[in-house]
Amino acid sequence: MNKIIKAKDYSIEFGPLLDSNFQNLLTKNYSNSKKIILVDENTHEFCLEYLITNYAELADAEVMLLPEGEENKVMEVCFQVWEALSEYKVSRKDLIINLGGGVVTDMGGFIASIYKRGIDFINIPTSLLAMVDASIGGKTGIDLGSYKNQLGVFSNPKAIFIDESFLHTLPEEEKLNGFAEMIKHGLVKNINHFKKLVPIEKGKINLDLIYDSVSIKNEIVLADPNENNERKKLNFGHTFGHAIEGFFLESENQLKHGHAVALGILCETYLSYLKGKIDIAIYDFIHQIIISNFELISIREEDYDAIINLMQQDKKNQGNKILCVLLTEIGQCEFDQEISRDEIIEVLKKVLS
Ligand SMILES: NC(=O)c1ccc[n+]([C@@H]2O[C@H](COP(=O)([O-])OP(=O)(O)OC[C@H]3O[C@@H](n4cnc5c(N)ncnc54)[C@H](O)[C@@H]3O)[C@@H](O)[C@H]2O)c1
Repeated sequence: MNKIIKAKDYSIEFGPLLDSNFQNLLTKNYSNSKKIILVDENTHEFCLEYLITNYAELADAEVMLLPEGEENKVMEVCFQVWEALSEYKVSRKDLIINLGGGVVTDMGGFIASIYKRGIDFINIPTSLLAMVDASIGGKTGIDLGSYKNQLGVFSNPKAIFIDESFLHTLPEEEKLNGFAEMIKHGLVKNINHFKKLVPIEKGKINLDLIYDSVSIKNEIVLADPNENNERKKLNFGHTFGHAIEGFFLESENQLKHGHAVALGILCETYLSYLKGKIDIAIYDFIHQIIISNFELISIREEDYDAIINLMQQDKKNQGNKILCVLLTEIGQCEFDQEISRDEIIEVLKKVLS
């Protein structure tokens, strides 16, 4: 039997989709509803057939193809989908199924939540990152220029189905991106999860580890769904990470979200050391793990202002203060920690020169 985690008002189910409650949900709750499946180019090619061929209920589903990649997690694409939904006369009782990585689940959740003040959606994440993080916890949204996730709403799916067989077609590099968020879950909340991940060969993740990682995130989200307190811990690595990702977003050297988060984890671990929160030995240990899995990049000194400018737009800030999550030990951290311009520069010089 598939394992299930109870989230606030929905379930997260782990295991083969065919053994899951998906069919039951379709027939019981949505038998008279139109079904719209959102995919990107890759999930259209690699994941859609599995759904269409196995579920008679989806034989007539409308498939909407989103352009692949973070640069397309934007309002223009949402408009096109909303227009298509309207043309197709999708009503409030209909259903959107987000079949894809974090870009599809973030944007698809946002599209569903805004359309007619909200229609039901189900997430079927197909990348490791979306399975362990993006599809979970109700944050939906899109980017605004180089600023990440600036437009969005908290809105929960009706269900999430995590079937690791989708990972068979996911490129190795993409698995690593999910690995970065799993490491983050271990670092901020659960040393045992971190210890299990450390010896893992690049991206070789199994369903038990996915389940553990989701449990950690879900526990934090349940305690603080709207990110007033503990949920802020999940932003570890993201103050630097989002700024670095945003900086390269419109360039030829785009960085994937997970890769940027891995670099952000490194920067914010060094910052934790710099601010006297952890020993240098902890930084050295985490440094070793990050560099054996992810390529380091260098940021030129003339670009520091642009990076700091992006950090100033971070949603976690208060007033003019840039706030960050800092480690106090492996498995523990503090949020809402103010950081200065000088500290940011010192970190960039040390870690990404
Ligand atoms: N909402 C949240 O709480 C939250 C948390 C973390 C990250 N995110 C967001 O998630 C996004 C990153 O997610 P991502 O790394 O999944 O990116 P993504 O959606 O771009 O997917 C990565 C790549 O893998 C491809 N892909 C996905 N599944 C596949 C499969 N089964 N086979 C082959 N190819 C497949 C995609 O087409 C894409 O090319 C970012 O926009 C980030 O901001 C959101």
